[in-house]
Amino acid sequence: MLSGRPMQNVLVMRPAVRRAFERAVRQDVEPALDGRPGPERDALLTRLERSFTELYEPFLALYGGHPRFEPELRALLGAVVAADGARPAQLHRLDHEREITPDWHEREHALGYVAYVDRFAGTLPALRERLAHLHDLGVSYLHLMPLLRARPEPNDGGYAVADYGAVEPALGTMDDLRALAADLRTAGIALCVDVVLNHTAREHAWAQAALGGDPDALAFYRTYPDRTEPDAYERTLRDVFPATAPGNFTWVPELGRWVWTTFNPWQWDLDYANPAVLRAMAEVMLALANQGVDVLRLDAVPFLWKRLGTSCQNQPEVHDVVQCLRAAFRIAAPAVAFKAEAIVAPRELVAYLGAGRHEGKECDLAYHNSLMVLLWSSLASTKVTLMTHALRSMPAAPPGTSWVTYVRCHDDIGWAIADEDAAAVGEDGALHRRFLVDFYAGRFPGSFARGAPFQEDAAGDARTSGTAASLAGLEDALARGDEAAVDLAVRRLLLLYGVAFSFGGLPLVYMGDELGLLNEREWAGDPAHAGDNRWMHRPTMDWDAAARRHEPGTVEARLWAGLVRLAHARRGTRAMHAAARTEVFATGNEHVLGLWRRRAGHGVLVLANFAATPQRVHATVPELHGFAATGGELVAEDRRLELEGDELVLEPYALAWLREGRRA
Ligand code: GLC
Repeated sequence: MLSGRPMQNVLVMRPAVRRAFERAVRQDVEPALDGRPGPERDALLTRLERSFTELYEPFLALYGGHPRFEPELRALLGAVVAADGARPAQLHRLDHEREITPDWHEREHALGYVAYVDRFAGTLPALRERLAHLHDLGVSYLHLMPLLRARPEPNDGGYAVADYGAVEPALGTMDDLRALAADLRTAGIALCVDVVLNHTAREHAWAQAALGGDPDALAFYRTYPDRTEPDAYERTLRDVFPATAPGNFTWVPELGRWVWTTFNPWQWDLDYANPAVLRAMAEVMLALANQGVDVLRLDAVPFLWKRLGTSCQNQPEVHDVVQCLRAAFRIAAPAVAFKAEAIVAPRELVAYLGAGRHEGKECDLAYHNSLMVLLWSSLASTKVTLMTHALRSMPAAPPGTSWVTYVRCHDDIGWAIADEDAAAVGEDGALHRRFLVDFYAGRFPGSFARGAPFQEDAAGDARTSGTAASLAGLEDALARGDEAAVDLAVRRLLLLYGVAFSFGGLPLVYMGDELGLLNEREWAGDPAHAGDNRWMHRPTMDWDAAARRHEPGTVEARLWAGLVRLAHARRGTRAMHAAARTEVFATGNEHVLGLWRRRAGHGVLVLANFAATPQRVHATVPELHGFAATGGELVAEDRRLELEGDELVLEPYALAWLREGRRA
C-alpha cells in the first residue's frame, strides 16, 4: 500500500510503458544516481517502477503530440530524481513512516487550523512562539495562508506569486520556513502550504521574461494577438470577480497581446497545454516539499485546462495533470499529501479525490465546499431538508481519501446550491440563493447576520463575506447588548463546528473562530484591500481575546471550551476516523440533521438541531435503533441528552452524539 491506496500497475506495465520506463532508467535515472548509496538507489528505483505508469500515461495523454514531449518528460524525471536526492534524511524517514501509516490525516485526532502568518503571529519565527495556542486546541495540522514572495499589494492575499523559491520577506525566509516545519513536526503538527499553480503574478520571472521578448517564456502563458479567440472563449466563461475584475483576458500593451487572466489582471494563467509548464510546476512543488511541507493545497485547481465552448473548469485533462504531479510525488516525496481547492458543483467535486481511472491517483484531501454552504443554508432557513437531500446524493470520498470539512475560510461563501437539489425538495434554487445573500447581508427580516454581499452584480446575484461569528449573529447580539442573543450565537457557531467535526474528514478551524472574532471593521481603509471585502473576514488575531478563553462565562471561554470538547470527543470516538462510512438520514423532524458513522464495530450517531427552539426526534426512527437506548451526550455543551418517553429532546441548536453499544 502506498498512501493508503491499493497499488496498481505494479506488476502490469503495458509493454510500451515498460519500454519507456526502461529507457528512462537507462538514459536519465541511472546516470543521475551515480554515487548514491545502494539502499537509496534501490528505494528510488522501486518507487519509480511502482508509479511510472501513473506518471507516464497522463503525460503521454496530455502531451503525446507536442514537439517537446520527449525532452520535457526527461526533464520531469530528472527533476524527480534530483528532488529525491536533495530530500533531507528526516523527510525520507517520514516518507517511510507514512507509507506504513497512510491514514495520518484521516485519524479521529486530526484537527486543522488555518491562519495568515502575519495576522496570527507577525512572522514565521514569531509563529514558533505561538504554538502553545495550537497545542491547547489539539491542532495536528496547520494551513498557513500564502507565504511565498508575492507581487507588491494588491496581490490577492498572496495568491499572486512572484517567486515560488522565496518566502515573502516581511514574513521571513526559506530557512525560517524550514525551521518552523521542523518545530511543527516535533509538535506533531503537519504543515500545509498553498501552491498557486493556475497562475503567476505578472512580476514572476517567467512573465517578466515573456515581457522581455523570450518566446519560450511567452509560451508559459495563454496569450492572443487580437480578440478573436478571447471573444470565442468568453461566450462560455464566467467571471470570478465580476464586480472588480470583469472578463477573463487582459490587454498587455508591452506584449501587444491579450493575456488570459481568470482572476485579477496581474494574475496570468499558466498554459498547461505546454509540457514545460507542468514540469516547471512539479519542480516548484518538489522544492517546497523538501523544505518540510506535509500538505500542498492546490489552489484553484479546476481552472488548469481550457477548452473552447466550456466553462474551462473541471476539464478531464485537469485530472491528468494532477495525477501526473501526484505520481511525481509518490516517487520523490511520498509523505506529502495533496489537497484540492476545487470550489465546484457537488457532482464535480469528488473527481478531485480520484474517480474512475484516476481512483487512488489524485488528491488525498478536498475541501467539502458543499457541506460548508449547506451548513449556512440550513442555519438561515432552520431546515435541514435541502442539506439532507444534497448530501445524500453526493458520492462518498473514495477509500484512502477524505474531505476537509470547514465552516469558514478566507474566501467568500459562494452559494453553490444546485437547482436540481433545490427543486427536489420543492424549492427554487435561484430564490433560495437570493434569500441566503440577503439573509447573511442582514437585509432579510429577522436576520441575525452581519455579513456583506461579495461581488454583487446588477441582478443582485452575489456571494457572501463575513466571519463565522458575525454571520452567526454574535456581532449583532453584542452590539445590542442582548445576552440571550449572544447565547444563541455561540450555540450556532458550536453547532456548525460540531457538524464539521463529526461529518467525516479533517475538520479545520479558521483562525479567530475559536474566539468568535468579528468582522474586521478597518478593512476598507487599507487602499490595497478596498474593493475586496473578503478582508473583513481575515481579522488580525486578538491575543487579549485569546487570554479571555480561560475566563469562565466569556464568549471566548464558551467557544474555546466547546471546540476543545468537540476535539476531545472526536479523539475518543473510533467511528470519527475519516474511513468510517457517513450516512445522512431524515430524522422525521425537518429542523434536525441526522447522520451516523460506523467503522469496525464502532458507531456514532449525530443529531443537530438547526432551530432556535427545542426539537424532538422519535426514538422509533429506524436509524436510531441501537443508539437511542444507550443515552447520549450534547457534545458542544457538557450535558447529557434527555430521553422523554420515546422522544429525544434537543435544545436550541444542540448537537448530540449517541455512541452505539455502550452508554456515552
Ligand atoms: C483560490 C483562493 C482565493 C484566490 C483564488 C485565486 O480560490 O482561495 O483566495 O482569490 O484562488 O488565486
